[in-house]
Amino acid sequence: MLSGNQMSWEYGTLATEVYELEKPVGHTSADIEYYTGLLADISGPILEPASGTGRVLIPLLQAGHQVEGIDTSPQMLATCRQHCRKRGLDPVLREADMTVFVQLAAYAAVVLPAGSIALLHGRKATLQALTCFRDSLVPGGSLFVDLPVPQSAAEPEALRYWWRDPYLWTRQTMHSEHDSAANQTTRFLRYDKWEDGTLRITELQRFRLQYWSCKEFENMLVEVGFTNTQVTADYKDASPPRARSGVWTFQATTPAFTIRRRGAPAFPN
Ligand SMILES: C[S@@+](CC[C@H](N)C(=O)[O-])C[C@H]1O[C@@H](n2cnc3c(N)ncnc32)[C@H](O)[C@@H]1O
Repeated sequence: MLSGNQMSWEYGTLATEVYELEKPVGHTSADIEYYTGLLADISGPILEPASGTGRVLIPLLQAGHQVEGIDTSPQMLATCRQHCRKRGLDPVLREADMTVFVQLAAYAAVVLPAGSIALLHGRKATLQALTCFRDSLVPGGSLFVDLPVPQSAAEPEALRYWWRDPYLWTRQTMHSEHDSAANQTTRFLRYDKWEDGTLRITELQRFRLQYWSCKEFENMLVEVGFTNTQVTADYKDASPPRARSGVWTFQATTPAFTIRRRGAPAFPN
């Protein structure tokens, strides 16, 4: 079921096809190697919320991990299932929203590469997702989550295109805006699929990113009960986070023993 902050057209048919062309399974910006290293000592089940087409999930399965995926996009999930079948893999993949999905104390680690948590709108949804991750982790379980570094403007992206005979796919930014009060950028991305110069399908994606400072995000982790928070930049252990970094990766753990008061709210207010 989709929550109010997630509309199904966000990763539709064409967005999925272009994701495949731009970032096929195994495509890495050093994130797959970094996550593989972070997970090397994890032997229990792993959850990847927003697992998409399996770009990261499949290499982790091939490295011997038991990984489950959830995603709100039926198109991204269908593509992931096809990729898994072709490789003789059969992971649990669910259509579910990361602000709602919980499997109590089921996973040794939760991983969110590619800054996907920034697709959630605002503090309430982000705290809900972090609370779901906490509850889905075993006591002492690990969370690894990427965060895009805050931008002060939303630059339009130059037109990009991909040829695969007989089709041409194009993606262009129709509109971009930056909301400094909400610390968000929003782009309207138009995807077109052409054949012999004729437009076959078109699709609009509202691509909104929610930014957090390192301190704000760390405070949210602590607020929902994570401990041992650490942050690195650009997939290098020795690299501290800076405003000019490309991506920050947070690590945190759930307490080894969780004592929850009876009647305590599932989500912080
Ligand atoms: C940038 S893709 C990342 C896919 C994959 N993790 C990777 O690294 O290639 C973002 C994915 O997040 C999914 N998504 C967006 N909001 C979500 C939500 N609230 N719950 C679960 N998945 C969500 C989208 O459908 C999309 O597949």
